[in-house]
Amino acid sequence: MSAAEQIGDLRKKVEHHAHRYYVLDSPEISDTEYDRLFRELQDLEAANPDLADPNSPTARIGGPPVSGFKPHRHRVPMLSLDNALGVDELRAFDERVRKALGTTEPVEYFAELKFDGASISLTYIDGVLSTAATRGDGTTGEEVATNARTIRGVPLSLQQPLLGLIEARGEVVMFKDVFKALNEERLARGEQAFANPRNTAAGGLRQLDPTLTAKRKLTFFGYGVGAVELRGGQRRLADTQSGILARLRELGFSVHQGSRVVRGFDEMLAFVDEIHEARPHLPFGIDGVVIKVNDLDLQENLGFSARGPRWAVAYKYPAEQAFTRLNKIFVQVGRTGAVTPVADLESVYVGGATVTRATLHNYNEVLRKDVREGDIVIIQRAGDVIPEVVGPVLDRREGDLPIPVEPTHCPECETPLVRTSGEVALRCPNKNCPAQVQAKIRHFVGRRMMDIEGLGEKLITRLLEESYLTDLPSIYRLKDRRQELIELDRLGELSVDNLLAGIEASKTNSLDRFLFGLGIRFLGERGAQELARDLRTLDAIRHADYDTFLAVPDCGPRTASELQEWFEEPANMQMLDEFLALGVEPTEAAAPTSDLFAGQSIVFTGKLEKFTREFAEELVMNMGGKPAGSVSKSTSFVVAGPGAGTKLAKAEQLGVKVLTEDEFLDMLPEGSI
Ligand code: IVH
Repeated sequence: MSAAEQIGDLRKKVEHHAHRYYVLDSPEISDTEYDRLFRELQDLEAANPDLADPNSPTARIGGPPVSGFKPHRHRVPMLSLDNALGVDELRAFDERVRKALGTTEPVEYFAELKFDGASISLTYIDGVLSTAATRGDGTTGEEVATNARTIRGVPLSLQQPLLGLIEARGEVVMFKDVFKALNEERLARGEQAFANPRNTAAGGLRQLDPTLTAKRKLTFFGYGVGAVELRGGQRRLADTQSGILARLRELGFSVHQGSRVVRGFDEMLAFVDEIHEARPHLPFGIDGVVIKVNDLDLQENLGFSARGPRWAVAYKYPAEQAFTRLNKIFVQVGRTGAVTPVADLESVYVGGATVTRATLHNYNEVLRKDVREGDIVIIQRAGDVIPEVVGPVLDRREGDLPIPVEPTHCPECETPLVRTSGEVALRCPNKNCPAQVQAKIRHFVGRRMMDIEGLGEKLITRLLEESYLTDLPSIYRLKDRRQELIELDRLGELSVDNLLAGIEASKTNSLDRFLFGLGIRFLGERGAQELARDLRTLDAIRHADYDTFLAVPDCGPRTASELQEWFEEPANMQMLDEFLALGVEPTEAAAPTSDLFAGQSIVFTGKLEKFTREFAEELVMNMGGKPAGSVSKSTSFVVAGPGAGTKLAKAEQLGVKVLTEDEFLDMLPEGSI
């Protein structure tokens, strides 16, 4: 084989495997093998400089630096979208569309994620990437082809022959894990952390040195086309938006599989809600969803307004980041004694809620990020995650602000703080520290633990002050103080009786809730469920050894040794005895009613109509199976209700079996529900 043939052959192979990996998410060879092929190609190209080609996959690590970006005029302008803020505006969009189309029937839309990155237009001539450009002002952008070649999901040449020209349009994003790793590296080098993945992706696209773009490991997601001028006069890739995206995927672009056809307003809304819920768990950032009329003829009928297409709308979710002033850094002591610096903030609306406090994790982070009292900081609140301080806006720092000092003593009980070797967190070693006891009680009475209503943070503090509460078992002695409680801060008879009734009722809660409530390190809700299910009684758990814990499903060495230590500690055993003496008898876990789902991992998704998710998951557990939150290759099957989205798509992609709710019910032995 000639060098030219050999190089051609290798280029095809490397591109094929990059496509399998980045677009189809199903590699055929190991990373090492891929690296070997890649290096072989690099070596051959180095030995044969006359055979250089800008579209060789070796361009993916970045070509030589450029001195500036040339302007690029888009053949078809890159428009932006009208925003719908809130459900009413979304409904108004649907009504406008139906009115303009003169129909009362539900319209077919294609619902997509609104990727939070930077848009890009990729021009292919005769199937080969010829130019790439940023959006710019919509008419003219900057030519960034060398950078675009380093982006995952951008084919250097199309997977199928296509004579003529197309502009593929989409968004360049940075995955959250890539962003995190990049920032760790920067902080370790003493550099400022990047604020968010969007700006980092946009900045990455505009690096003069393409190897720097390559280092940012950006990903492209296609969402449409601009100009289509194919040989033979063809002006469309397909007749629907869903068809266009399917074609783009066939051609080698990465296209996110979470999009789907929705009919009418209700289905549109279900998609909006579902993606909102999935948002914090997605591997990349989105700032909303985009709803597009699916049929291209109807799109043409609707046309454009000055602002953008009349056939599409962007529904925005609340921003997950905001700026505000950090007034003070104070120290919080958690239930395990961990000492956390917390920022007291000027209140700010972020991620759909008003935030006045945000965690700073630990003092190492405070120093690494160089956060100081008085700074304007970036606050992040994604989904249910505790709000956190991302970092300061250094340009807005006024004057010399003092560097925060790590405390040496517990702010609550003044015990000297300790640091366990290998851990960054400081700890208050005093088990009776009032702050710890308070946090422990708060956890114990929580909704997913013992679920004792009426025992809120303020009341716990008061009862600790009065020494009516001293530790967890003392909750069950409150009943002896009914009269004092009624008189305390004029709580009143009714609320005290309700509280005491709630406390009594919790005595027979299930074992897993009780175990979770104890606040043992590393033992989460699922872990407690597995433990209760496997060992069945509190007595058995008390007498279990390390190996027994390790044999519990999903219990790793770290949790097993923590459990062993906890149940060996005399003070803890004394506490359990006290609970028992006070009549706390967590009920034993029910024996599995059958082993129908033994060893199986099952995912429920979509809007379940025949049963609740909790019910189904409990049923699966009782039959020896494991309900899981996400779909992977090891998922046994997925039960999908109406409106199922990303998880269903993932299952289909991986070839995992999908059942309807009825099919699932049919599997169950008679009389089991
Ligand atoms: S369609 C004419 N689809 O949002 C329609 N845009 O405000 C053009 N974006 O500049 C855009 N995800 O960068 C479309 N699935 C998606 C999108 C998307 C993100 C960005 C895009 C555009 C902006 C519109």
